[in-house]
Amino acid sequence: MKVIVKKDYENMSKEAANIIKKEIEKKPDIVLGLATGSTPIGMYEELIRLHKEEGLDFSKVTTFNLDEYVGIDKDHPNSYHYFMKDVFFDHINIDMDNTFIPDGKAEDPESYCKEYDKLIDEKGGVDVQILGIGENGHIAFNEPAEKLNVGTSIVKLTQSTIEANSRFFDSMDEVPKTAITMGIGSIMKAKKIILLANGKKKAKAIKELIKGDKITTYLPASMLLLHSDVTIIVDEEAYNG
Ligand code: PGA
Repeated sequence: MKVIVKKDYENMSKEAANIIKKEIEKKPDIVLGLATGSTPIGMYEELIRLHKEEGLDFSKVTTFNLDEYVGIDKDHPNSYHYFMKDVFFDHINIDMDNTFIPDGKAEDPESYCKEYDKLIDEKGGVDVQILGIGENGHIAFNEPAEKLNVGTSIVKLTQSTIEANSRFFDSMDEVPKTAITMGIGSIMKAKKIILLANGKKKAKAIKELIKGDKITTYLPASMLLLHSDVTIIVDEEAYNG
């Protein structure tokens, strides 16, 4: 596991965007695994700049997002579908037919989850997966628990995640309590993984993770210790606490 410590959020974001830029230049029809949340916004902004000012070409790129809330419409301002368009897809030359985000309103969620994993495999698998990390060590919506899901699944969110997400909603009642998320196995299949973390709130989870001596389902990110190509990019606050 490679750890890169950057001075601040801006430098963390640029580092991640530059790695992705190089990967797209190497393989224009790359499959990217994308994340939502506050953490990757700066990286998306830098990728948009690289597209607009340096011609970074997304026309052949395919993307798979990690997760979506259950029961929320795609055009709801708090849906991850909306987020991805608003923050990234609307500003680059990606073909929207090549962008995939789990459907939080799938009629038959169980078979839908299997189809999502199958589709990733059919597209050749994720080349580079971007991840954030929860304060509780979750990756995507794989929350700390006795057991973790291998494949894409419907999951209940923990109270701490619901509270962390509530900042985007008008009231606690509106915050979704379940989500559809790629499983730990789906994530671990990616050829290369980049995990981003910034700010003091992430320091505890990052410290545990980079200690690197134990895996536990109670720190889902620790499963990444079993992967052979993981880069963690953090700012000084997330690194030092
Ligand atoms: P954040 O969320 O980027 O909004 O902090 C990360 C996560 O919960 O995975």
